[in-house]
Amino acid sequence: MPAVLVTGGGSGIGAEVCRVLAAAGWQVAAADLRPPEGGHELDTTDEAGWERVLDAVWPLDGLVNCAGIRDRAPLEELELAAFERMMAVHVTGCFLGTRGVARRWRTEERSGAVVNISSVTATHAVAGQVHYVTAKGAIAALTRAAAVELGPTGTRVNAIAPGIIRTPMTADRLGDPDQTAWLLSRVPAGRVGEPAEIASAVQFLLSDAASYVNGVLLPVDGGWAAG
Ligand SMILES: NC(=O)c1ccc[n+]([C@@H]2O[C@H](COP(=O)([O-])OP(=O)(O)OC[C@H]3O[C@@H](n4cnc5c(N)ncnc54)[C@H](O)[C@@H]3O)[C@@H](O)[C@H]2O)c1
Repeated sequence: MPAVLVTGGGSGIGAEVCRVLAAAGWQVAAADLRPPEGGHELDTTDEAGWERVLDAVWPLDGLVNCAGIRDRAPLEELELAAFERMMAVHVTGCFLGTRGVARRWRTEERSGAVVNISSVTATHAVAGQVHYVTAKGAIAALTRAAAVELGPTGTRVNAIAPGIIRTPMTADRLGDPDQTAWLLSRVPAGRVGEPAEIASAVQFLLSDAASYVNGVLLPVDGGWAAG
């Protein structure tokens, strides 16, 4: 049975990824600041924490870097601490996780698959979230760089760029009719996406069905990025 670790597995997209992968026959471990029952406590910015969790769940065949935070502030009011925390949770987190599994796979002369959760904002910026947009763009770049470097070992590193998905992270925006109307004006599908629609893309990128897919940023956004 292939094994996978999912960060952010305690809520929203990550929780659904855990459910879908388990149903597909994966042995699933979740890691989160607030882990689900049986999951592992992890702050993705914590280097020692990553090693502790990887030691506990190893061996792995896949890693899904899904943990994330989102808040809003105009550029001129954005505090340095908020900018740096956003970069750390998302970018440092993806770096530490990808480095951790890559080192172990290389030592064992085997390979695996990493899926990083970026965002449509990596390619289509929105106002009021400079830190989030920057972090998600960096995840897309980290994904390409890691894919190029690890490709010769057989390891694949891909990213998904979700559009607007119904989760606790977006509950405030989707509770505001004006925000919802603005968001949906960007989405040719004319509706909000569901976590299951991201989880199925994660499942594909982890699987052998994607054996020749490496370094992509796959939009799963109802067509937002096509516009
Ligand atoms: N919901 C959307 O519309 C949307 C769109 C694009 C991208 N994303 C991305 O998808 C991912 C999942 O988001 P979601 O919508 O499911 O949000 P969510 O808030 O439901 O889940 C995020 C999870 O990450 C965990 N987390 C936060 N900081 C952490 C840290 N430092 N270490 C470990 N865990 C941490 C939280 O505890 C939570 O369980 C995030 O990376 C988010 O940026 C979401």
